[in-house]
Amino acid sequence: MKEQNLKVVSNKALNDSTYELVLKGGDINMSSGQFVEIKLDNFYLRRPFSVAKIQKSFLTIVYKIVGQGTKEMTKICENDNLSVLTELGNTFDLDKAKKPLLIGGGIGSAPLFQLAIEFNERGIRPTILLGFRNEAEVFYLEKFKKLGDVIVATDDGSFGEMGNTVSILKTKKIDFDCYYACGPMMMLKALAEYNSNGQLSLEARMACGFGACMGCSIMTKNGAKRVCKEGPVFSADEVVF
Ligand SMILES: Cc1cc2nc3c(=O)[nH]c(=O)nc-3n(C[C@H](O)[C@H](O)[C@H](O)COP(=O)(O)OP(=O)(O)OC[C@H]3O[C@@H](n4cnc5c(N)ncnc54)[C@H](O)[C@@H]3O)c2cc1C
Ligand code: FES
Repeated sequence: MKEQNLKVVSNKALNDSTYELVLKGGDINMSSGQFVEIKLDNFYLRRPFSVAKIQKSFLTIVYKIVGQGTKEMTKICENDNLSVLTELGNTFDLDKAKKPLLIGGGIGSAPLFQLAIEFNERGIRPTILLGFRNEAEVFYLEKFKKLGDVIVATDDGSFGEMGNTVSILKTKKIDFDCYYACGPMMMLKALAEYNSNGQLSLEARMACGFGACMGCSIMTKNGAKRVCKEGPVFSADEVVF
């Protein structure tokens, strides 16, 4: 873990509820699955976000407005400086797959972008299954299409296939050996119950973000584990939902 001061390159809306924040500076030695914690003025606890893209000293996160902190983040301006804890958590294990399937639910699609980049760097073009509530929530579609074969599903059928990621997985014949998923807990639970050969990136309410407070513990078959330290990526067959 490192505490760094990063400069804001841009902070722009991707749709009504989703923003992309690009930061620059410092030494960004991170991989897909890991996350950062951002300090916001007037908020005691830092906010955790997965890295959506890492390129040299640039770090991109994609965030959804859900409460006061993320609402405040939309006011962040170019050239602002942010205190960021970097290099938090573990990474996805790319060695598990020769034919990867990346499954994102809503804002959980964000960390899969860096994962797709890393598979491409290995010469592997993944299949990418993205689920959103509706067309208005879709983001990064063209960018994902450059990195993999993309299937999009929306709950209301307003874009792509009608359904959710799990229903699409059950009905479509998708050729994969290991999946990598991030999204709502209900989606991850349903995925793990359907097929346990996958890796899940979990979320939990966090306080410290680096293993000191135990506040983010979840139950696994191997005992309690901290999402911020032993996770956020866990084997699908390990998590006790
Ligand atoms: C490892 C990890 C990676 C994440 N990656 C992303 C990402 O890439 N993009 C994104 O939009 N969101 C991500 N989240 C969720 C994000 O941290 C919350 O949406 C955000 O903290 C909400 O802050 P708020 O002040 O707007 O909401 P509020 O509900 O007002 O927050 C109150 C408190 O609860 C915490 N909290 C609220 N929701 C969550 C949540 N889902 N997970 C953890 N803590 C939460 C906040 O950090 C804060 O301390 C991630 C969470 C974790 C744990
Ligand atoms: S948030 Fe403190 S141990 Fe995970």
